[in-house]
Amino acid sequence: MPHICAETLPAALYRDPAVYERERRRIFARSWQLIGHQAQLAESGQWLAVTVAGYPVIAVRGEDRIRAFHNVCRHRAGPLAPEGEGRCERNLVCGYHGWRYALDGRLASARDFGPAEGFDPREYGLLPLACEIWRGFVFVTMNPSAPSLIATIGPLAERTTRMPLESFRPGRRVTHEIRCNWKTYVENYLEGYHVPIVHPALNAAIDSSRYEIELDGDIVFHYAPPRSGTPVSGLWAWMWPSLGINVYTSGMSVERMWPVAGARTRLDYLYFFPEDLSEAEKDAAIAASEVTTAEDIAITEAVQRNLNAGIYDRGRLSPRHETAVALFQNLVTRATGFSPEEPQARE
Ligand code: FES
Ligand SMILES: [Fe+2]
Repeated sequence: MPHICAETLPAALYRDPAVYERERRRIFARSWQLIGHQAQLAESGQWLAVTVAGYPVIAVRGEDRIRAFHNVCRHRAGPLAPEGEGRCERNLVCGYHGWRYALDGRLASARDFGPAEGFDPREYGLLPLACEIWRGFVFVTMNPSAPSLIATIGPLAERTTRMPLESFRPGRRVTHEIRCNWKTYVENYLEGYHVPIVHPALNAAIDSSRYEIELDGDIVFHYAPPRSGTPVSGLWAWMWPSLGINVYTSGMSVERMWPVAGARTRLDYLYFFPEDLSEAEKDAAIAASEVTTAEDIAITEAVQRNLNAGIYDRGRLSPRHETAVALFQNLVTRATGFSPEEPQARE
């Protein structure tokens, strides 16, 4: 690894609302996003609705397979379902005027619409998204020319082939609204440099002097040996643009860091556990994770306040600890077209 000491992105990219609008379209609408697990969509009519960086999305199981659509009615943009999970009968029904859509997205009936010349219902099906499943996890993308999911996730797929991911069931979800830009939170996830300072309990459990970051394609892996010296039984990975994947022998969690506005991020922890794990063991696993998360939230919100203050502009990244932050910042620059020299550039 060359010892290049990269400069950070300018602070303006972490607070300007126009930057967020561009990141929505150029990053979140173009990449693969994990929306849930196929166990949540086991039966025909079961649906799952989420909002990805302001884009409402719904996945639904039809008779044959799971499909995903924009959760936006073609009449006057009503919602087909509220955010969350549920089950419909044979149709998704719009919550505004009751248009009904078949589970393959076709408009089945425009309720009480009246005779309408020039209106062809076949032209008003739901707008589809690409939807692929990797080992039970359901991903979507709004980008019709995105590389396949498996091409994107390749290095992670290779390193998890022997891990029993299918034996884990969706457990619980814990959500935090964080007052920071999504990049502030992602960058914090991408380095272990802060562990000895910010996470005393975690630092007591792992040997952070041997904390390593490895880049493989656009996937980042963390290695943090336990202090006892026993082999690491976990895998911590990150996938562009904002997904953390943490796999342990006794379950796994994924962390979705989705922006909701320029300086607000929603962190969803989705926990998955083996079927025979007791509720007490699940509680303990979540409680330990929540301690670290609370520490990360406190520091990233403090950093964001300082980015907003207008004093700091650009800093330097450690070649020893922050190579993944540098990779992430390069990917952001490439995707958005914002150059560090011209952070206010418009389209
Ligand atoms: S907006 Fe959906 S039926 Fe009118
Ligand atoms: Fe942390």
